[in-house]
Amino acid sequence: MEKRILSPSILAADFSQLGEEVHAVEEAGAQYLHLDVMDGRFVPNLSIGPPLIRSLRTKSRLFFDVHLMVEEPDRFLDDFAEAGADGITVHAEACTHLDRTLSRIHALGLRAGVALNPMTPLSVLDWAIPQTDMVLLMTVNPGFGGQAFRPYMLEKIRALREKMRNAGCEADVQVDGGVGLQNLESILQAGANVIVAGSAIFNGTPGSSTKAFLEIMGKV
Ligand code: DX5
Ligand code: ZN
Repeated sequence: MEKRILSPSILAADFSQLGEEVHAVEEAGAQYLHLDVMDGRFVPNLSIGPPLIRSLRTKSRLFFDVHLMVEEPDRFLDDFAEAGADGITVHAEACTHLDRTLSRIHALGLRAGVALNPMTPLSVLDWAIPQTDMVLLMTVNPGFGGQAFRPYMLEKIRALREKMRNAGCEADVQVDGGVGLQNLESILQAGANVIVAGSAIFNGTPGSSTKAFLEIMGKV
């Protein structure tokens, strides 16, 4: 079975005890930490930036999986690298010069991901796939946690896997938005191997929810 990775999204965490909550998911076996950055322009919400990531970096050895939901992400790549990102994912819709952006992320020594909104066609990846370590399929409209998974996205996950197979590409397929224990199995079966979950992990007991996710991810 290919490697499966859980990336809990701190967007749903209790920020007044963020260090403890991150520690709980790390202890429970999560491999990544998903850090959602929003600029109030690309998405209608604001969230966190480099200072928070920099301070979490001193507390955690998790892979820092930074999801930039910002216009013109090139402006911030160096800042996030310096703050401690291990991988940076940018939205294809927010990049005029995607080749330059992915090259810069790689030049900073980080893994580069490309994210697509639910209705953005996979064809925008045609030339990007060989330069991409991970494709992130948004399965809700980005900007907020706690939304319902768009069911038609299962077909898109399958189509992406097929496209990658045809291209002989081994990049990760990350799914973000509305993932919970009830739909995890179908999402994995469709071909996702990196799972983001915010409210399903942090709106309860983060450690035991992480274990429940990982158990299913190890079985399906
Ligand atoms: C939404 C973010 C997600 C969010 C997912 O725009 O990209 O990472 O935290 O939250 P849930 O898992 O609650 O849908
Ligand atoms: Zn995200």
